[in-house]
Amino acid sequence: MKDKILVVSAIKDGTVIDHISAKSLFKVISILGLDKIDKTITFGTNLESKKLGRKAIIKLSDIFFKDKDINKIALVAPDAKLNIIKNYEVVEKKVVEVPDEITGIVKCMNPKCITNSEKIVTKFDVLSKKDVKLKCRYCEKITDQEHMEILR
Ligand code: CTP
Ligand code: ZN
Repeated sequence: MKDKILVVSAIKDGTVIDHISAKSLFKVISILGLDKIDKTITFGTNLESKKLGRKAIIKLSDIFFKDKDINKIALVAPDAKLNIIKNYEVVEKKVVEVPDEITGIVKCMNPKCITNSEKIVTKFDVLSKKDVKLKCRYCEKITDQEHMEILR
């Protein structure tokens, strides 16, 4: 194996979220609520990536997510790969998939939607996962990838 430099140190146990596009890093942090976690978190951004141009990576010590919690990040980081680390070894790799429905996280793009004037948690059915299209349960309008705004 050729010499490889780890830009961000290896972790002993936990989760490494790799292949996040640099522009989505803070959205991922927000969606996963990482600002409220008291475990050690390290991250790097604007790292070189052949596929994404500039990528970001998040390393979470002693944190293991449930699939349903992690899949939410597919909305902003569809190429993200999770590496589960146990005793310094990668024991599992997972990809993320946009869930069938989204509760909260995304703002309905219809300014007249009730969720934008009252304290109601948004809820969408996912019509398309690749080029994301979300149908609001309240006003039935479609919020697409281009107009998608992340709440919080
Ligand atoms: N990693 C880490 N701590 C460890 C082991 C791995 O932080 N103890 C990180 C690596 O820095 C890398 C990711 O976990 O960012 C995946 O590790 P590995 O599978 O060894 O790397 P690659 O083969 O480059 O992964 P990919 O599947 O993304 O090509
Ligand atoms: Zn709506």
